[in-house]
Amino acid sequence: MPFPAERLRRLRRTPALRRMVRETRLTPDQLVLPLFVRPGQRIEEPVESLPGVARHSVDRLVEACRAAAGEGVPAVLLFGLPEEKDAEGSSSWSADGIVQRAIRALKEALPELVVIADACFCEYTDHGHCGVLTADGTGVDNDPTVANLARQAVSLADAGADLIAPSDMMDGRVAAIRRALDGAGHQQVAILSYAAKFASAFYGPFRDAADSAPAFGDRRGYQMDPANRREARREAALDAAEGADVLMVKPALPYLDVLADLRREFDRPLAAYHVSGEWAMLRAAAERGWIDGDRVLMESLLAIRRAGADWVITYGARDAARLLARGWSE
Ligand code: PBG
Repeated sequence: MPFPAERLRRLRRTPALRRMVRETRLTPDQLVLPLFVRPGQRIEEPVESLPGVARHSVDRLVEACRAAAGEGVPAVLLFGLPEEKDAEGSSSWSADGIVQRAIRALKEALPELVVIADACFCEYTDHGHCGVLTADGTGVDNDPTVANLARQAVSLADAGADLIAPSDMMDGRVAAIRRALDGAGHQQVAILSYAAKFASAFYGPFRDAADSAPAFGDRRGYQMDPANRREARREAALDAAEGADVLMVKPALPYLDVLADLRREFDRPLAAYHVSGEWAMLRAAAERGWIDGDRVLMESLLAIRRAGADWVITYGARDAARLLARGWSE
């Protein structure tokens, strides 16, 4: 050993010393809980592939949000299951749409809760793609989809959303949404852009939950290739230039390199989406007793924060907030 010997273990000796040299901390302040809202009343329909996650009718959604807020979760991200689907996904911009109704109910019951509305079409189109199809029916037509997204965003803001989160991956959507929001008097409504969203197999359980699997083909023509790291910086740079207030990387754990890159390059808040497949894998292994679910959840969230995320969107937000309230510390 060289002299003096490097002894990093000196500061790992006791819990108090470890707390003093800890570089990253988790607090519930940065957690966002995704929720699914469906028509009906008094319904809480469990999603089989997502343990602990349900599709809630508006009344039950309000109760779930009240409980989450009571546990310290400051924000929710809403996805809707509409009554009707069509080729364009027009129910997504109806003033009386399922998410619009949910937002109004939440803003009335829980005015402090931060409500983030996902903006996309895959839950609303009868073909399950994230926009309007091209004339030959093989892909998604960018510009008409962007125009519809702007309508959807304004409708969600009219209902009271604090942030609009476009998850479609069309080019130019952030600028179009910003312009439309400002034109409708919603200068105060922020945009959380799914900037680097990859065409990922980790979204499987979400598509069960949201009934949003594409009826044909896949999303590789609009979502990013999992092989591309440099391209994520270009996506983020465009969204930032177009006016995104917060940039997102999605999924989270398999893309921590992308998150770390964006942390270095951008000074605005970053979000990471710990997606359905990540949560389902964790819970499935925990249910079998193969891993300690609580510890793996907290380590995962910490890793996502360490890589550079400010906000973590996770189905485990309430579990994590509860553990933190009980004084969780490793
Ligand atoms: C909609 C959307 C998806 C997710 C969030 N918004 C699915 C997809 O792109 O197919 C996935 C979230 C998750 O897996 O938890 N475009």
